[in-house]
Parts: sequence; C-alpha cells; structure tokens
Amino acid sequence: MTEGNKTENRISIEMAPMEGITTATFRRVYAKWFAGVDRMYTPFLAANQTHKFKTREKKETEQYSPDLVPQILTDKAEHFIWAAKELKLLGYTEVNLNAGCPSATVTIKKKGAGMLRDLAAMRSFLDIIFGGDEAGDMPEISIKTRAGVSSCDEADEIAVLYSGYPFSAIIVHPRSRDDQYDNTPDLKAFGAFYERISHDRLVFNGDIRSVKDAEKILDHFPGIRGIMTGRGLLADPFLPERIRSRESMGDVGFSDREKAIVHGFLTELYDEYERDLSEGTALLKMKDLWNFMAVSFPDSEKKLKAIRKARSGLEYKAAVKSIL
Ligand SMILES: Cc1cc2nc3c(=O)[nH]c(=O)nc-3n(C[C@H](O)[C@H](O)[C@H](O)COP(=O)(O)O)c2cc1C
Repeated sequence: MTEGNKTENRISIEMAPMEGITTATFRRVYAKWFAGVDRMYTPFLAANQTHKFKTREKKETEQYSPDLVPQILTDKAEHFIWAAKELKLLGYTEVNLNAGCPSATVTIKKKGAGMLRDLAAMRSFLDIIFGGDEAGDMPEISIKTRAGVSSCDEADEIAVLYSGYPFSAIIVHPRSRDDQYDNTPDLKAFGAFYERISHDRLVFNGDIRSVKDAEKILDHFPGIRGIMTGRGLLADPFLPERIRSRESMGDVGFSDREKAIVHGFLTELYDEYERDLSEGTALLKMKDLWNFMAVSFPDSEKKLKAIRKARSGLEYKAAVKSIL
C-alpha cells in the first residue's frame, strides 16, 4: 500500500451478507476459525405487513453480537421502522437497509435495488425513517446499495440523495442492478459517492478477491471506512487476515497449515448443519459453499467433482479430505 494511505490500519473489513450462505451458523463457525473480520451482516430479513420475522430469520439475530448488523429488506418505511425497533429491543444499535438486491422477484416489488428506480419515493422513505415521529427510538441506519438500476451513470444522483441523510455507513457495490454480477465494479461510480459522502462512512464492495484488489481500492480511495468482501472471503477464508497483514496468498494456493485450518472449519460447519438441519440439507449447503471455494483449487477438477457428487456425509467428508 502506498505511503499516502495513512488509514490502512484502521480500515474496517466486513463480511458481505449472502443469503443462504453466510447464515448465523456459518458466521459463528467462521469467527471461531478465522480472524480479521470487523463487521458481519445478516442476510436480508424481510419486513412486511405481518410485522413478524420468519423462524429462519429470527435465528439470524438471536445470537446477539456487537459486530453483527442485521439487514432489512422492505419497500415501506413503516415496516422498516417496525423491524428496526424490534431489532433494537434485541440489543442491536445499527440496522442496514438493503438497496442492492438485484433479483427480479425483489426488484419488481420496488425492494432491494428496485428502490433506486424511483428516487422520489426513496427520498420519502428516507425522510420517514430518519425524520419521522419515531426517529428518536431508532437504531443507527446504514445502507448497502447498488450504483444504479440500468446504468452506473445514475450513481451521482443516488450519491446526492444519500448525502442528505445521517447514514452511519454507506456500503456501495458499484454495479448497476442490470449488471447483476456481470461486468466489473465501476470505480468512477464509486468515485461519485467518494465526492459526495464523508469518507469515514464509505465502504467499498465488489470483487475484492485478493490483497492486491484491496490495496488497489484503498489506494484509489484513501480514507474510506473499509471494504466488504463476499465471494472472495468464501473462496479464501483467510482473505480478511491477509488484507490486514498485507500478505498475499502463496502462488501454490493454501499452505499445509492453512489447509488443515480450512478442513477443520469445513468439518465443524458441516457437523453443525447436519445437527441443526438434516444430512441432505447440510450436504446441499456445503456444496453451495464449495461452488464459491472451487476457484481456490484450480487443478483439482476431479476432486471437486467428487464433492459435487457426494450422496452422504461420509462420501462428502472423504472427498473434502482428499482435496485438503
Ligand atoms: C448467493 C448470494 C447471496 C447474496 N445475498 C445478499 C443479501 O442477503 N443481502 C445483500 O445485501 N447482498 C447479498 N448479496 C450480495 C453480496 O453481499 C455482495 O454485495 C456481492 O456478492 C458483491 O460482493 P463480492 O464480489 O465481494 O461477492 C448476495 C450475493 C450472492 C452471490
């Protein structure tokens, strides 16, 4: 990292919320085996007219941690306020608004990145959650956002809107909704937020897969609060530690010591899932995770296939043992 980046030691390294993957179980087991993450977020919790969270969603927040930020997905300010107050009762001092989910089933209801389709409606939503009668009883509010709906050219207008509200943090994944996960994160679009928003509230998210990727962002945008990583962390669970120490992964991939740790982590995670869910569901969840980890084992196609094909916990564990 360059000399100019004086804030590098203080940067916040954050685990991206990933629905179905970064569950409470995943987060608990991950935190036992790996260091380096400062903040974690729950996958989105849907706030709707029932004013009830589903059992699965309740599990996400029941283990309170000061480093955990629950994320809320909704299109209605009153539902957001209900959820935020409910979470405050559980001890949470911050909640996060999802303005980034690109899935069509979500955006069609004007939720997630769909909120960005109508910035006047978004403004009314923000006016109510920040300035309404109940604002005094609310926890702090952060937002995780895309940089546009059909194009990142919309970034500046969105940044101007957000700059008018006291978000505790603004996490920007600088792709448009229509990009989904294609194209590369648009640094110019992140730059629009960098110009308009105080840097200590800004977090960069998108395609941080290595120490180099993190350094590039931190050099480009000195003084930002931090970076958030999702798929990069799944592929290499040591990534936050590596970014912290600025030591890249070796050219040959995981060292033997690292492999033993990854093996211990995966074994415990599988066992927890099997205990809480069932053998079949545990297998499915681990295979989902392996879809993201596979890139770290480029020369092991046969062994990866054995993991994908495993039909029991025993077969799965044998396949994992052979790759690690
Ligand atoms: C399977 C999957 C589930 C996701 N679930 C959520 C979610 O619940 N809330 C959210 O804000 N973003 C969600 N995301 C987006 C990620 O948090 C993150 O913004 C995106 O993956 C880009 O970061 P990355 O390149 O570091 O993975 C999800 C992404 C994936 C691939």
